[in-house]
Amino acid sequence: MKIKVATIFPEMFDVLDVGILGKAKQKGLLDVEVVNIRDYSTDKHKKTDDAPFGGGAGMVMTPQPLHDTINAMDKDHSARRIYLSPRGKTLDQKMVERLAREEEIMLVCGSYEGIDERIIALDIDEEISIGDYVLTGGELPAMILINAVSRYVDGVLGSSESTSEESFSNGLLEYPQYTRPQEFEGMSVPQVLLGGNHKQIEDWRLAQSLDITRQRRPDLYDEYIKKTQINNGKEK
Ligand SMILES: C[S@@+](CC[C@H](N)C(=O)[O-])C[C@H]1O[C@@H](n2cnc3c(N)ncnc32)[C@H](O)[C@@H]1O
Repeated sequence: MKIKVATIFPEMFDVLDVGILGKAKQKGLLDVEVVNIRDYSTDKHKKTDDAPFGGGAGMVMTPQPLHDTINAMDKDHSARRIYLSPRGKTLDQKMVERLAREEEIMLVCGSYEGIDERIIALDIDEEISIGDYVLTGGELPAMILINAVSRYVDGVLGSSESTSEESFSNGLLEYPQYTRPQEFEGMSVPQVLLGGNHKQIEDWRLAQSLDITRQRRPDLYDEYIKKTQINNGKEK
């Protein structure tokens, strides 16, 4: 998968060279191209921001460097162009899976008070937020999106890791996980996980998932129950 990033802080993306994503980049499964928006500024001081029309606090990213960066990196508009923004639709697992099906995505990171609105109208396909809070720039949101999406790219996760049985994969939060030792600080691993009866383990895990989801995310729980009832109805 090809991921293009436009930012004024390209060095922040060095963290993508670490861990699972670092390995995926080395293997050529992920191709991440990070470009400094400042390099495209025609201003003699390489400025990328200016005061907002109408007044107000802070600075706004000017359109010229952004427009030229985006269109130099993605000449034929083959990438899905995303502006990370608190005003966007909140990123969730369904969006992650949808974006993972794209061959190419471009992530535009804002700074200061954000970017000139005309860039959104001219150059952006979609605005995505990572949650209802405001950060200083779009770089961390972009890295969160890259991390989440990359897990769905074939070959990125090893055979021992999988996206198929984890929180949100079936609409529920994940069941509790345990590993060695069997006893820790006086606490034991639930007996059912030690017996080797796969059906019992599966049933226990589903019951735990349902319980945790009902307590912590009643919205997801209700949706799951509704979907299950519809599917059961179809089967009859
Ligand atoms: C200080 S924020 C600008 C906030 C903007 N003035 C507003 O009120 O919506 C600077 C940049 O950080 C990024 N950003 C901040 N919070 C974000 C979030 N929750 N999700 C995605 N991007 C975010 C965006 O790229 C934004 O342009």
